[in-house]
Amino acid sequence: MFDRVCNRYELNNLLLSFGMDAYWRWRARKELRLGPADRIVDLCCGTGAVTRCLAGAVPQGEVVGVDFSAGMLEPARTRGGPAGGGKVRYIQSDVLQVPLPDHSFDAVTICYGPRNIVDLPALWKEMRRLVKPGGQVLSLELTRPKGLLGFFHEIYLNTIVPFLGGLVSGDREAYNYLSKTISGFLAPEELARSMSASGLKKVRFIPLSGGIVTIHHAFTPVDQED
Ligand SMILES: C[S@@+](CC[C@H](N)C(=O)[O-])C[C@H]1O[C@@H](n2cnc3c(N)ncnc32)[C@H](O)[C@@H]1O
Repeated sequence: MFDRVCNRYELNNLLLSFGMDAYWRWRARKELRLGPADRIVDLCCGTGAVTRCLAGAVPQGEVVGVDFSAGMLEPARTRGGPAGGGKVRYIQSDVLQVPLPDHSFDAVTICYGPRNIVDLPALWKEMRRLVKPGGQVLSLELTRPKGLLGFFHEIYLNTIVPFLGGLVSGDREAYNYLSKTISGFLAPEELARSMSASGLKKVRFIPLSGGIVTIHHAFTPVDQED
């Protein structure tokens, strides 16, 4: 499905989020306390929007984007990294079995990915494996706002998103999937509990734009042995 929507993927994100997607990426990057030489893995990197944004914060470091869709990775690779930013490279792989060594990164991120992963404990385990003890884990995901905004958000998800997303990408089914996975996904409190249950520490979540998206930030245990 991601192979089918890859060409207009970033345009649709821009339109459907009214341009707020750039702010959400920037806000996620700000939440990570990155040093200039840090090494980061960006899981479910898609066309690399987050990967490039992160590379801008680590001029002497590196960001490795991981995704299983060849179609999404193609524009990411063509575009490369930002001027003055750290090294950027991409690996085509399932994010639950990433061919990178244990505990070799300072931070690991996943943006708009958790909704697509059936086995969340396996995801957190793989994220823990990739970062150094005491390293950072960040998720940015679309969530459901509460109250009146939630009411209009639900209508927007079920009408405008499939219509406009379908029109721009030529694949209405993919944007029906987007709406369904947002509606059916865990609430931020539940996602935080799932992260804590997998052994992640200092789990916090930060709702953005009234709760349309939520950042979850955590650390791996300093004394982790697995
Ligand atoms: C909604 S896109 C997010 C892309 C990007 N992070 C962004 O911010 O634009 C989700 C991506 O996750 C990838 N994906 C979903 N499940 C995956 C898995 N198990 N392993 C690797 N990639 C996966 C899809 O191919 C897709 O590119």
